[in-house]
Amino acid sequence: MRLDGKVALVVGAGSIGSGVGNGRAISILFAREGARVVCADINFQSAEETVKMIREEGGEAAAVQGDATKSGDAKRLVDFTVELYGKLNILVNVVGIASGLGVLETSEDEWDRVLTTNLKSIFLMSKHAVPAMIKSGGGAIINISSAAAFVAHPCLSYGTTKAAIINMTRCMAVDLAKYNIRVNCIAPGFLDTPMVAPIMDDTRRAFLRQVIPLGKIGTAWDTAYAALYLASDEASYVTGTTLIVDGGLLAAGGRRRGEEKLV
Ligand SMILES: NC(=O)c1ccc[n+]([C@@H]2O[C@H](COP(=O)([O-])OP(=O)(O)OC[C@H]3O[C@@H](n4cnc5c(N)ncnc54)[C@H](O)[C@@H]3O)[C@@H](O)[C@H]2O)c1
Repeated sequence: MRLDGKVALVVGAGSIGSGVGNGRAISILFAREGARVVCADINFQSAEETVKMIREEGGEAAAVQGDATKSGDAKRLVDFTVELYGKLNILVNVVGIASGLGVLETSEDEWDRVLTTNLKSIFLMSKHAVPAMIKSGGGAIINISSAAAFVAHPCLSYGTTKAAIINMTRCMAVDLAKYNIRVNCIAPGFLDTPMVAPIMDDTRRAFLRQVIPLGKIGTAWDTAYAALYLASDEASYVTGTTLIVDGGLLAAGGRRRGEEKLV
């Protein structure tokens, strides 16, 4: 019960397909650890599915629909949480969309869509959540970046946003420390989630097992356990940091397993 008595708002708590994405796993794990969880998503049915899974385990959760890129909705999600559970201790910004396009292929609309969804959602959710957290005596904000923040991919807009989230996290951490609000980030590597299922064929899986030192693709639960630590009081002296959860992918820098020795 590492989150006993806490109230969490997870934004992007559904999953793009059937199965368990990052927001769903975080919501379920937080509830298992004693938090009351508001599961917010642009897709209400998907948020409700997460809540159903939590309630089946005896946890406490509620679903709410909202678009985190709209200021009015972002405020409404925070108000809903405070009205229902009386306070707000933890905000997890999971919302994110992928785009695999390069400079020439990315249209202006695509650029705006990815930057708005991946960055503006964090800004607006945090802006509206912080006053509620201050009233609650402090809190923890967790943003989800990606290993794609650290290396060059052809995915221009996605990689740009995921790198920006890391410094956005630091800026917010320094700004909000005076209110006892900690802000941290998680950068997951390759995970078996519904989001990446369409691009995960056998060839790619075999290649990833070669370049990931731990020899396996992660799951949404790996992100969730990192989020649990950062949300809990165990991380009370941790703010402004990014926790990489990638099986060693970035550390190996693309070398295949067994080829670690360069000389
Ligand atoms: N899956 C991976 O391998 C992986 C790796 C690194 C980082 N990430 C990051 O993790 C996050 C979640 O990924 P996932 O695989 O769980 O994806 P997902 O698509 O399953 O979950 C994201 C959820 O956000 C919701 N959403 C989208 N736009 C929204 C909006 N404007 N307002 C409210 N909700 C909205 C979607 O409906 C969906 O339920 C993303 O930020 C992604 O970039 C994923």
